[in-house]
Amino acid sequence: MVLLKSPEEIAIMRKPCRIVAEILEELAQAVRPGVTTDDLDRLAEQLTYRKGARPAFKGYKPGDVVYPRTLCVSVNEEIVHGIPSGRQLKVGDIVGLDFGVVYDGFYGDAARTVPVGRISESAERLLRITREALYCGIEQCRIGNRISDIARAVQEHAEDAGYSVVEEFAGHGIGRRLHEEPQVPNYFRRGMANPRLQEGMVLAIEPMVNEGTARVRILKDGWTAVTADGKLSAHFEHSVAITGNGPEILTELGARV
Ligand code: MF3
Ligand code: CO
Repeated sequence: MVLLKSPEEIAIMRKPCRIVAEILEELAQAVRPGVTTDDLDRLAEQLTYRKGARPAFKGYKPGDVVYPRTLCVSVNEEIVHGIPSGRQLKVGDIVGLDFGVVYDGFYGDAARTVPVGRISESAERLLRITREALYCGIEQCRIGNRISDIARAVQEHAEDAGYSVVEEFAGHGIGRRLHEEPQVPNYFRRGMANPRLQEGMVLAIEPMVNEGTARVRILKDGWTAVTADGKLSAHFEHSVAITGNGPEILTELGARV
């Protein structure tokens, strides 16, 4: 069942979403050569509690294995759900930061992929196209459109650039739970659930775009998803409310208070 949020509930959701945006910005600024992914996780957790929120991912257990940390950090060929470790970032890496909090009973969830120092032109292009694909999807978040309009816009932008979209993971509704209906895939095929977009839906849209194959492998830790061919992957995500005035990007820095 898709849970629609009232304007009052959306007003409450602005807070966790703004906290996510602010912390992601601080994390992005902390990314530099020599920093470990554990350092970023610790910073994320400190900032979360300092703002009076709680981590959304830590302790999350959709299947057999609990997610142990506050932040997901996915480097280079890692697509999503990278578990922080002692790994040091180095110049030329790209690093996906995926982060969520719960505050006042509601969740916020967003992600971005940032460069470590100077990166190759091809990596730069992958980041740009993936971010643009997210915004192509957001542009479709209008009453009366369908989930397929979001999915197709994301997929088309990525594939026109010569990339592939990951099919194993999807975006999702978000609200009093981190993952709500509907699923928001980044590709569309006949027969998939395809509800109409309604006022009061809040969707986390999160394209994962690969340089090479769309195929995914999960590491033995039970979480880290990597590209099957070892080529680069990027991930951007925003939590977006569907309103009578069009899409409202709740997790954008500078979003309305
Ligand atoms: N943004 C990701 C998602 O919505 C992050 C989930 S990490 C998890 O699926 F640990 F919470 F699963
Ligand atoms: Co998400």
